[in-house]
Amino acid sequence: MPFNKNIIESNVSLLLEGETGTGKSFLAKKIHENSNLLGPFIHVNLSSFSLSLIESELFGHSKGAFTGAVTDKIGALREANRGTLFLDEIDSLPIEVQTKLLLFLDSGLVRPVGAMKEYESQVRLICASGQNLKKLVEQGKMRKDFFFRISSGFQYSLAPLRKEKEKIAQVCMSFAQDNNIQVESKLIHYYQNCEWPGNIRQLIGHLRKKTISTKGRVLYFDEIDQSLGHDIAVSNEILGGVKTLKEVQTQYCLRVFHECGEKVSEGARILGITPATLRSYLRQIN
Ligand SMILES: Nc1ncnc2c1ncn2[C@@H]1O[C@H](COP(=O)(O)OP(=O)(O)OP(=O)(O)O)[C@@H](O)[C@H]1O
Ligand SMILES: [Mg+2]
Repeated sequence: MPFNKNIIESNVSLLLEGETGTGKSFLAKKIHENSNLLGPFIHVNLSSFSLSLIESELFGHSKGAFTGAVTDKIGALREANRGTLFLDEIDSLPIEVQTKLLLFLDSGLVRPVGAMKEYESQVRLICASGQNLKKLVEQGKMRKDFFFRISSGFQYSLAPLRKEKEKIAQVCMSFAQDNNIQVESKLIHYYQNCEWPGNIRQLIGHLRKKTISTKGRVLYFDEIDQSLGHDIAVSNEILGGVKTLKEVQTQYCLRVFHECGEKVSEGARILGITPATLRSYLRQIN
């Protein structure tokens, strides 16, 4: 656990940064489970909502507030009362809603869209992002005060798997233990030299696929693993014309998206990422 007991048990806001599949959601849930909070863990992926719906998703709305508001909606800020609100892909939050959320964080009061009344709610906020938020602040896409408020100095970057060779071995070993199988050490060594653009999610997905297609209880290097070699080859090929790992990742996602007939759900399945994450990469290109 990257945070100590005092931080986990306090109500301080936390910010988790890292590429897709590095374990931000997994860690947020673990932090909640190890805190003393009695309320629920509410996960909202902000990139899944259109700009007009984000506000009512967070703050709720009263019946008739807008076309389509046929009933009252409580909203995530009140649903998470006395618990943890995990705001995933916080970089997707528009400036106007950042301002409103900042007011809530200072006052603890929620006014649903179209409502006269304000309600109290106490939440522990954990935010996650695959983007460098300091850059968004510099570009004027994120309020500086909002950035400081959500990180409060407690910020943690989850490293990509390709930079954490030891973690690759750990994930393989714990997968083997959970599934009562063994993984050949030569195979682990091979995995330690793969790119894993989808990080832990991709590695676990790959191990699952391999376990299903293996007859015995030991996983050895075979043709399924060679497809990972193809991933490396593709990355090397596009590395020539681009500069950063982020660009390699974005271009690879675009390529898979085109090759699978531009179907977001299919592309996301192949890449081992969520459709929302793939959509956010595609948005960066456009
Ligand atoms: N430390 C870990 N040990 C075992 N499994 C893990 C660990 N961290 C993450 N995982 C698993 O890896 C997968 C991806 O993790 P997670 O969904 O938390 O990534 P993420 O960073 O939130 O990705 P995204 O940005 O796409 O939302 C999940 O299936 C999760 O259970
Ligand atoms: Mg996540």
